[in-house]
Amino acid sequence: MIDLFSDTQTRPTAGMRDAMARAEVGDEQSDSDPTTLALCARVADLLGQEAGVFMPSGTMCNLVAILVQTRPGDEIIVDDQSHIYNTEAAGSAAIGGISVAALKTRAGVYTPEAFEAAIRPPARTAPRSALVSIEQTTSFSGGSVWALPDMRRIRDIAHGKGLRAHIDGARLLNAVAATGIAAKDYAQGFDSAWIDLSKGLGCPVGAVLCGKQDFITEAWRWKYRLGGAMRQSGILAAAGLYALDHHLDQLARDNTHAALLRDRIAGAPGLAIEAGAAQSNILCFSVEPLGVTAAAFAKACLAHDIRVRAIGAHQIRATTHLEVDEAEVLRAAAVIRAEAERLSASAG
Ligand SMILES: Cc1ncc(COP(=O)(O)O)c(C=O)c1O
Repeated sequence: MIDLFSDTQTRPTAGMRDAMARAEVGDEQSDSDPTTLALCARVADLLGQEAGVFMPSGTMCNLVAILVQTRPGDEIIVDDQSHIYNTEAAGSAAIGGISVAALKTRAGVYTPEAFEAAIRPPARTAPRSALVSIEQTTSFSGGSVWALPDMRRIRDIAHGKGLRAHIDGARLLNAVAATGIAAKDYAQGFDSAWIDLSKGLGCPVGAVLCGKQDFITEAWRWKYRLGGAMRQSGILAAAGLYALDHHLDQLARDNTHAALLRDRIAGAPGLAIEAGAAQSNILCFSVEPLGVTAAAFAKACLAHDIRVRAIGAHQIRATTHLEVDEAEVLRAAAVIRAEAERLSASAG
């Protein structure tokens, strides 16, 4: 099976498991797990932020960042394909009493102008616009990489109007690999930012949320309140430190593999691939011209041991990661192309 469903499908390597087994541990809740402290310091430095807190998941990073930086009845501004809006079980609404303004985008990226227009003028009758989130890279809209100047304009507009600015950096390091821009340059001046360990970095669990020290103090309160505080979390943090030492180069390979997949299936009958697709490790394409659903197309590929993800009625997502090498990308491309040709012939 060649699994392009998500980069969450990676399993810990032998070296990572060894590092986990050897981790020095203590009690995370009382700040005495040395490996977790080392991971938090390392990621805070990577993002140029004052401090970090280890979280069980990226979903909890987003939720806690929202809870710390909003009050019930506030509104946050995100893109309408974002993970926060679509796949976090409306946590910010359910737990924080937050409403969400979801902006229409091109491939997950909205303009600074669209953002500014979405900020509500202060009024007794309106929710208060409190926080903006940028997903770098975009997840369900094809791994698009936000341009640094746009991120900075959005950050500055937000601050000028009294909003906080947040980066959902589940795949921020894939953007770094794609552009060569440092993570701390992307995160500079943002009030909160995080990276996921359990995606391209290949760890089994975890994410690190960063910001100023007073933000992290409040984030810790919510982490504890939500049941996310751990004990000997060094076993998990060791995987993160190992990944930062050994798997960063892999992210550039993953990005190259997604572009290779795009190039190998481009021009296949019935596949619609947008210009500029596969800017990082995710390729999205539509099978609508074939007259089949994405679910049917994914099933046809699965019969040949290629797993891709149907993410809409006609939209397919393929994500590269450290368990997929170049030969496997080529094999996946051959199957996707052959299935497109077969379905197109049977339709015609
Ligand atoms: C953009 C984005 N944000 C947040 C998350 C949530 O991360 P986790 O799966 O670690 O909860 C994901 C996971 O797929 C994601 O793609």
